[in-house]
Amino acid sequence: MAMVMVVFCCCWALVIQSALAADGNSQFLDDINQYRISLSLPEFTSNAGAACVAQQIAASYKGTKCSNSTGTATVSGEEPQLSESMLSKCNLQLVNVKDGFLGPTCVPDGTSAASAPKLAAESVTMSQAYTVYVNDSKYVSAGVGSVDNQWYVLALATNASGGNYVNQDLDPSSHAFALSVRFAPISVLAYFVSAFILG
Ligand SMILES: *[C@@H]1O[C@H](CO)[C@@H](O)[C@H](O)[C@H]1NC(C)=O
Ligand SMILES: *[C@@H]1O[C@H](CO)[C@@H](O)[C@H](O)[C@H]1NC(C)=O
Ligand SMILES: *[C@@H]1O[C@H](CO)[C@@H](O)[C@H](O)[C@H]1NC(C)=O
Repeated sequence: MAMVMVVFCCCWALVIQSALAADGNSQFLDDINQYRISLSLPEFTSNAGAACVAQQIAASYKGTKCSNSTGTATVSGEEPQLSESMLSKCNLQLVNVKDGFLGPTCVPDGTSAASAPKLAAESVTMSQAYTVYVNDSKYVSAGVGSVDNQWYVLALATNASGGNYVNQDLDPSSHAFALSVRFAPISVLAYFVSAFILG
């Protein structure tokens, strides 16, 4: 009985934790969408493939310190590395995501879980490096991943097969392309930025 209780409590803790993370992610995306609305752009619709990739990238930052504890979240040198294995966990291939955008940001240590999503979204909407992409109407949907209420990754998707984070039946030539650039730097795979919070 005690064993059952422990297992039950652990599962419950995990459920609560992932529900909180999901809330944080949707709050982050809501804030980004408020910004889109303020620019008279359509909101990003939710994209499951993009969310999956964003979560893989976010998980890879686990334990990485957010560099500027005074408020500037400089992630220079911490560019996301998108690997073939992350993509395959999401049942995607490079050709499905290459025209997408992946941008990580983080909030300083000590930021409360409640204010983290908002602060992270602000760092995106206040950064020219990010708004180049967020302002662009070619991105129509988005997914968010996060880890420890500290790192948030925004994945933006286009409406075309090269960037919609939807698996397609690929012809052999495009598959060969995906494999041939497997070890290419992230800049070839997807756009990224280092994020900066202003103040
Ligand atoms: C941290 O951010 C502040 C405010 O933008 C800046 O003045 C300072 O140089 C930054 N420190 C580091 C180590 O990047
Ligand atoms: C995005 O749009 C906002 C509002 O018009 C503007 O302030 C910002 O500079 C734009 N970003 C870029 C990179 O042009
Ligand atoms: C995206 O493509 C779908 C299917 O072709 C279409 O219905 C939808 O209007 C497009 N959305 C945008 C924003 O272009």
